[in-house]
Amino acid sequence: MENTADTNKDKTNIILENILSRTSDRMFDPSKPVGEETLQTILQAAMAAPSAVNRQPWQFVVVTNRGLLDQLAAALPYCHAASLAPAAIVVCGDKSRFLEGEDNELWVQDLSAASENILLASHALGLGSVWTCLYPHNDRMASAWEILDIPQDFVPFNVIPIGYVTQTHTPLAKWNPAAITYRT
Ligand SMILES: Cc1cc2nc3c(=O)[nH]c(=O)nc-3n(C[C@H](O)[C@H](O)[C@H](O)COP(=O)(O)O)c2cc1C
Repeated sequence: MENTADTNKDKTNIILENILSRTSDRMFDPSKPVGEETLQTILQAAMAAPSAVNRQPWQFVVVTNRGLLDQLAAALPYCHAASLAPAAIVVCGDKSRFLEGEDNELWVQDLSAASENILLASHALGLGSVWTCLYPHNDRMASAWEILDIPQDFVPFNVIPIGYVTQTHTPLAKWNPAAITYRT
């Protein structure tokens, strides 16, 4: 019989390995599409993210149209990856779900959590992805609004090109004990 403790340990190792081996990937095979079900699994992971007061203030625009991906790559300064990617998810903030007062800016943290889940889920599914920045650059947000015809109530936050990679690289070494302070 399978030992539950061992199974849980294996799962933990797989999850940690996925987090530690993720890289930002920018070189994709444009001829290899990402299946609809796969994209849905990635979006499920995005929506599983925590959000302040569980507001889930997000809207996801899934772009698989080659012409639109190319337009994004051409208009956005650091989004060349979209020209090779067969798909991209544009994570947007839904203004109607933003919190009031001092909590108003928390949507940025909520969307960041959802975005990281997209990166990790993509990696777990054998795909590459990269977070490319829109918000808070007004010019980049304006390009996304215009190219994708996104309603003004949705704030374009980032573009995450996703695809099967043609080039892999080792994760950057980021472990830095100096970034930790203990109070014991
Ligand atoms: C808020 C944010 C904005 C980023 N913007 C871009 C971008 O516009 N274009 C890009 O190619 N990568 C972008 N990245 C990816 C970073 O360059 C990358 O995460 C960083 O260099 C570390 O590399 P790694 O993800 O492979 O560990 C962004 C990442 C974050 C979190």
